[in-house]
Amino acid sequence: MKDSSQEVYRRLNEQIHEELAAWYGYLGMSIWCSKNYFAGFAKWLNSQAQEEYMHAVKIQQFLIDRGVQITLKGIEKPRQEYNSIVEIFEAALAQEQANSASLNDIFQLAFESRAYASVTELQWFINEQVEEERTAQTNLAHIKMVASDPAAVLELDKSFGERQSLFPVQPE
Ligand code: FEO
Repeated sequence: MKDSSQEVYRRLNEQIHEELAAWYGYLGMSIWCSKNYFAGFAKWLNSQAQEEYMHAVKIQQFLIDRGVQITLKGIEKPRQEYNSIVEIFEAALAQEQANSASLNDIFQLAFESRAYASVTELQWFINEQVEEERTAQTNLAHIKMVASDPAAVLELDKSFGERQSLFPVQPE
């Protein structure tokens, strides 16, 4: 009998690249913010990039635990040109929505394939995406509210800068 988990594992392997592309995407956004003197947004986006990296590592570990041979491939160059901070957070929301759609597709395949270990693993990611989309929507809404008031944008930048990173931005 064909092991239907194999296609799920192949898709999870692909998902490692989706997560790393999100990592790279957030880095591109963070660099734009640094360049445009938004140190707080830059720090926040860098922390978000770290989360995406950890998502890639989580999938990688799951596949290793299941004895799957992982194949890494290149990641595309991320977008680095934006016209405003609003565009940055629109792109962040779109990136999260795309990631959710990808995870939902794999979840459906895993469920239909009765690949229950993968279903359980993916459940964590589906829950995580609910939070990530909600955060991205809230961020965008808040930035749009203050976008025409530079002092308020700078105040928001400062509050975004209070986010704690998962690991130090500078090596210790
Ligand atoms: Fe790993 Fe924000 O999705």
